Order: sequence, then C-alpha cells, then structure tokens
Amino acid sequence: MRLLVTGGAGFIGANFVHSTVRDHPEDVVTVVDALTYAGSRESLRGVEDSIELVEGDIADVDVIDPLVAAADAVVHFAAETHVDNALADPRPFLHSNVTGTFAVLEAVRRHGVRLHHVSTDEVYGDLELDGPTRFTEATPYNPSSPYSATKAAADMLVRAWVRSFCVHATISNCSNNFGPYQHIEKFIPRQITNILTGRRPKLYGTGANVRDWIHVDDHNSAVRAILERGEAGRTYLIGADNEQSNLAVLQSLLAIMGRDPDDFDHVTDRSGHDLRYAIDPSTLRDELGWTPARTDFTEALRETVEWYRTHPDWWAPLKDATESSYSKRGQ
Ligand code: NAD
Ligand code: DAU
Repeated sequence: MRLLVTGGAGFIGANFVHSTVRDHPEDVVTVVDALTYAGSRESLRGVEDSIELVEGDIADVDVIDPLVAAADAVVHFAAETHVDNALADPRPFLHSNVTGTFAVLEAVRRHGVRLHHVSTDEVYGDLELDGPTRFTEATPYNPSSPYSATKAAADMLVRAWVRSFCVHATISNCSNNFGPYQHIEKFIPRQITNILTGRRPKLYGTGANVRDWIHVDDHNSAVRAILERGEAGRTYLIGADNEQSNLAVLQSLLAIMGRDPDDFDHVTDRSGHDLRYAIDPSTLRDELGWTPARTDFTEALRETVEWYRTHPDWWAPLKDATESSYSKRGQ
C-alpha cells in the first residue's frame, strides 16, 4: 500500500509511522506535516531513510492534491489537538481541523483514494462522573470545547462526503492516548517531566475528572485494522476499558517515580472541563476482532516514564516555554 500519513510527525502519527515501517515493510509511507509546535522531525528519527517527509499544510491544495493522487490510502491524523490551546486561541483549530480536513476530503474525492479519518471521543461531550453510560457509535455529538467542536465539524464533513460523493472513508473516535513522543503539554508527559525537572505536578481542580486511557500502540493497531478491514462509511470507537480519574493517574506516576502521593499542586481548573469520557469498544472487537495488547496500565505507565527519562534530548528544549505558558494561565 502507498500510504499518505497526515500529521505523521506528531505523537500518534509518528508512532503509527514507526509501527508501519516495522510491521509492514511492504508499505510505501509518505508523511505530510506542517511541523507546527506539536510536530517534530526528531519523532521520525530512525525511520527517516524508509519514508518520505513532506513539510506542508494539509489545507494547501497545491500541497495535498499531488500527495493524495500518488497514494492508495490516506490516514488523516493532522490536527490541532490540545484543549487548553483551543481555549486560548481557537483560530488554528478551525484552520487545521476543519479547512484542513475539507482539503483532504476534496483531494480523496478527486482521486478516488481511500481515507481513514482519525477523530476523538471528545466529539460526544462528557458523561456523568459515576454513571454506567459509555459512548457508542450511536451517541449524539455534543462537543464542549473549540477543539472538540472542530473535530466534530471534521467528522460531519467526512460523513457528508461519504453520503454525497461516495468517498471511501472510515472514521475512528478514540479515547486518551499515552506513550512515547507525546508533547509535554499533555497531562501524563507534563507530570513526568515536571518531576524529572524538579517541578511539582499540576492537577486541574480536584482531579476527579475521568479519562479512558489507551496506549498509543493499541490505538494504532486499531487504526490499521480499520484501514484493512473496516467498512466504508462506518464509524468505529476505539478504547481499552481503562477509566481512571486524573488523581489516580497522577498518584500512579508519583508512586512509579518514588514520590509521596501528595507531592503535587492543585491548580486552576480548565474552563468547561469535561467530566468523564468512556468508550464502549465492542463493535471494533466483535466485528474486526481487534483487542488491545497493552492492558497492564501500571506497566505501560512505567515504560512511558522510562521513555521520558531516557529521551531528555527530545523534550527538554520544550519544557521551559511550555511551563511558562501554563503559569501565565495559573496552571
Ligand atoms: P499532535 O498534536 O501530537 O500532532 C498533530 C500533528 O499534526 C503535528 O505533527 C502537527 O505538526 C500536524 N499538523 C497540525 N496542523 C497541520 C496542518 N494544517 N497541516 C499539516 N500538519 C498539521 O496530535 P496527536 O495527539 O498525535 O493526535 C493525532 C490525531 O489523533 C488528531 O486528529 C487528534 O484529534 C486525534 N486523537 C488524539 C488523541 C490523543 O489522546 N492524543 C485521542 C483521540 C484522537
Ligand atoms: O479523549 C481524547 C482526547 O484526549 C484527544 O482528542 C485530545 O487531543 C487529547 O489532548 C486528550 O484530551 P484531554 O483534554 O483529555 O487531555 P489532556 O492531556 O490535556 O488532559 C487530560 C486530563 O488531565 C484532563 O482532564 C485535564 C487534566 N490535566 C491536564 C493537564 C495538562 C490536569 O489535571 N493537569 C494538567 O497539567
């Protein structure tokens, strides 16, 4: 397969490129990435001779059109992804997530190319903290933040292009990922690198909010399964049955890193903070036979801590600027 991976220099996309080069050497991989603050050539170190990396904006038709024309399938990861940044300045989210996805859709329509669109469970809004309900493919969209609203808009564009133009596309909505190469603005790597740099971890509000954590390799194995065996026009929810409160995750990290359980600061809560996300992944399991492999969360967190401990060259140059933006927001 000739695969075009948008956003392949970001967290999940880079892990997808690494696993594709390792497990599918028959594939020809091209990455298109604008190399925003969230993308890095360093994340593709080790595979750079096996792929082509094109620096460019997916919203630019002159960039995206010839790349799509030369591909058998597009895996579309590129997006602005951080909720706190969307609250500070929504404009780039409209550009990459909505206009960018529109440009990708028009290109796959013109050239009859298969598309897998990578989306998020945040399009469904949030759930009650202690309720039994989980998100399914039938849950109505109810996004809370500028980030999730733009991802919801992108999903709707994909659905409309499937219906109106018979574009061969699938969508996946996944829960919170963790693992190597995740930007240190995000919860888990922020706390790990805070501890590694002598700062105290920062918990928003009480830490009662719940996220449903999945290792990035499991997200990507599901994306691969959908790409190979998914039905055109369908949406698949990806999750690993791993709901955890933010406080519980932070205390696991503190224990792994040999700190006291209360060695952290409570900081200003996120505006409109979604309470709980939880995915029912049974369609993916039942229909495509996918299961997550990284089901020991503590062990996977331990490996993630170890990755950040051994890769300061990758994250340390970003740390002061990231923390300075947070501290301006009281976080
Ligand atoms: P990320 O922020 O780490 O990486 C995004 C990448 O997209 C970066 O390399 C960036 O340079 C690139 N990009 C942004 N705008 C672009 C543009 N206009 N043109 C070209 N490239 C552009 O994001 P991530 O966490 O790897 O997320 C990847 C995808 O997965 C996103 O679509 C996100 O919504 C979705 N997702 C993420 C999670 C998660 O927990 N991180 C969970 C579910 C879904
Ligand atoms: O659910 C999937 C989504 O997961 C993806 O679509 C997003 O791209 C991804 O960023 C992530 O969104 P969240 O907002 O859930 O992730 P984040 O890492 O920003 O925060 C996780 C939780 O931790 C959230 O409840 C806010 C809280 N938090 C976050 C940070 C950065 C803290 O308590 N302290 C922090 O310092």
